[in-house]
Amino acid sequence: MTILLTGGTGYIGSHTAAVLVEAGYEVVLLDNLSNSRPEVLERLRQVTGRTLPFVEADVRDRPKLAAVLREYGCTAVIHFAGLKAVGESVRQPLAYFDNNVGGTLALLQAMQEAGVATIVFSSSATVYGEPQYLPLDEAHPTSAANPYGRTKLHIEEMLSDLCRAEPAWRAACLRYFNPAGAHPSGLIGEDPNGVPNNLMPYITKVASGELPSLGIFGNDYPTPDGTGVRDYIHVMDVAAGHVAALSFLQREAGWHAINLGTGRGYSVLEMLRAFEQACDHAIAHEFKARRPGDIASCYANPAKAASVLGWRATRGIEEMCESAWRWCRASKGATRSP
Ligand SMILES: NC(=O)c1ccc[n+]([C@@H]2O[C@H](COP(=O)([O-])OP(=O)(O)OC[C@H]3O[C@@H](n4cnc5c(N)ncnc54)[C@H](O)[C@@H]3O)[C@@H](O)[C@H]2O)c1
Repeated sequence: MTILLTGGTGYIGSHTAAVLVEAGYEVVLLDNLSNSRPEVLERLRQVTGRTLPFVEADVRDRPKLAAVLREYGCTAVIHFAGLKAVGESVRQPLAYFDNNVGGTLALLQAMQEAGVATIVFSSSATVYGEPQYLPLDEAHPTSAANPYGRTKLHIEEMLSDLCRAEPAWRAACLRYFNPAGAHPSGLIGEDPNGVPNNLMPYITKVASGELPSLGIFGNDYPTPDGTGVRDYIHVMDVAAGHVAALSFLQREAGWHAINLGTGRGYSVLEMLRAFEQACDHAIAHEFKARRPGDIASCYANPAKAASVLGWRATRGIEEMCESAWRWCRASKGATRSP
């Protein structure tokens, strides 16, 4: 089976490519390199022992996508490509609707043209909006607090309508919680441009001396230590979830929304302490006011993934922090000592 990975050189796409190859799949990576670098391909060659086919293209280029799907004989698509910065989406909503929603529409049309009807989509826990109860299961009402979240909801709805209209279609919307960590080799990992939006790459940059201090927004939440609690999930577990979703879609048609989380929340301070253990030195941090729109706690009920995909997360925060630090030192040559 040959799988097209849109956004294949990005953070989650590159780890999934490595895991798919290990599981015996053929993969084709497609990316416009707007938020990733071509060096990832050489690193993936070192990880997998193979040169993976790569197409530099934009998912909004429908004729190109249809041609790629045909040329490589793809039977399914994993659709990672998209913009993902919440704050930027508030400032540039049209860019997000164009890239994420417009890009997915063009991709689905290209798939239809090429006779490919199986898709795994990178959705997000953000589609649950403010939690009405915890842990979040897939029956929790959906809503969006910002344009980024709204693009994810629109895409989920587009896929749901398509599966309802055309029974041949199969779509799994994987609602990721908070992917973190890196490949155990230290060769691939998260490498955001500029100031990171997520906790783990931010901590990593402070630990390596690239940024001076970690701002912790709010230490008066109703959580055990007052800082926000999230469900961090190792990116290798997320990648394995995609392999499980592909085999699930071989058995099951229709539209499916499935959480990829661990079911366990960790606070910002717990993550910080775990990272300090991994890098063996203290990490500068300061408490700041809560950010508008942030919630106290968010974690998954992962039962559906266990029952329908036969998948569950197996790696903990120690492994997330150790692998992120290994990746940081290997890629940036961080020299800071305790
Ligand atoms: N990382 C997270 O915390 C997280 C959480 C929930 C959901 N997601 C979703 O998972 C997906 C992958 O996230 P990631 O963390 O790997 O992000 P990423 O930015 O590392 O990867 C996305 C890739 O898509 C590419 N891309 C963007 N627009 C494109 C376009 N129009 N055409 C072709 N390529 C394009 C980028 O260059 C990048 O390589 C995204 O859709 C994101 O919204 C991520």
